[in-house]
Amino acid sequence: MEKTAHMTPDERNAYLSNFEYFHSGTSQEQVIKTYNQWAPTYVETLRSGGYTGYLVAAEEVESRVPEDQRHSQRVLDVAAGTGSVGVELSSRGFKLIDALEPCEGMLERLEATGVYTKKYKEFLGDGAKSVPSDAYDVLVCAGGMLAGHIPIKGIDDMIRVTKPGGLIIIVMRTEFLHLVEEYKELGCHMDSLQEKGYWTKVEVKKVSNYFTGKDGSVFIYRVL
Ligand SMILES: C[S@@+](CC[C@H](N)C(=O)[O-])C[C@H]1O[C@@H](n2cnc3c(N)ncnc32)[C@H](O)[C@@H]1O
Repeated sequence: MEKTAHMTPDERNAYLSNFEYFHSGTSQEQVIKTYNQWAPTYVETLRSGGYTGYLVAAEEVESRVPEDQRHSQRVLDVAAGTGSVGVELSSRGFKLIDALEPCEGMLERLEATGVYTKKYKEFLGDGAKSVPSDAYDVLVCAGGMLAGHIPIKGIDDMIRVTKPGGLIIIVMRTEFLHLVEEYKELGCHMDSLQEKGYWTKVEVKKVSNYFTGKDGSVFIYRVL
C-alpha cells in the first residue's frame, strides 16, 4: 500500500477499501461475498474516490473502432461489475455488448442498465468454458486486474474468446503491477504469449487520474 495523506477522505476510503477486502490469496467465494455486499454502493464509492477506469476503457475502445462499424462489433466486457463500461460503450454507438461477471449482486445491477445482451456468470482464469472461442471483435476489461481477481492465466482465456484480428483492451491501476505479487509476472506472461504467436502488442501506455489521482495502465493487444 502507498501513502494516502494527499487524498481526500472519499479517495482514502475508496483506496483503503480495496486493500481491506482483497489480497493475493482471497478466495473466489470471498470475492463474491464482498461484491454481493458492496454492489448497492459500489458505483458511488468508486466514483467518489475518483475512479475513471470505465471511462478510460470505453474511450479507448471508441478510439480503436471506426464509427460506422461500432453497431456490428461484438464486444465482451470482462469483470463487468455493475455495467459502467457497457453504458459508456452503448452511448458511443456499440450495440452488441455481452458481459462476463461472476457476482450475482453486481450482475443484477448490470442487467438493469439494459445495454447488455448475453451475460456469462463466470470467473476468468479457470477456462471460462461457457464463453465460445473466437467470438468477440473486442474484449475490454476495466478494473478486473487486482489482488484476488483475474489471475494471470485469465489472459489466456481472454485470447481464446477473442476473434483472430480482434482487440483486447485491459485497463488497471499501475501500482498493482508491483504491489500485487502475481502481477509482477504479468508483463513477462504477456510477452511470452506474443513470442508464442497468440497476440501482438499494439500499444501500452499510462493514463493519469485513473483512481484516487493515481496512474492507470492501458494494455492494447491484437489477437493473431
Ligand atoms: C473493481 S470491479 C470492476 C467493475 C467494472 N468493470 C468497472 O469498471 O466498474 C471488479 C469486478 O471483477 C469481478 N471479478 C472478480 N474476479 C474475477 C474473475 N476471476 N474473472 C472475472 N471477473 C472477476 C468482480 O466480481 C467485480 O465485479
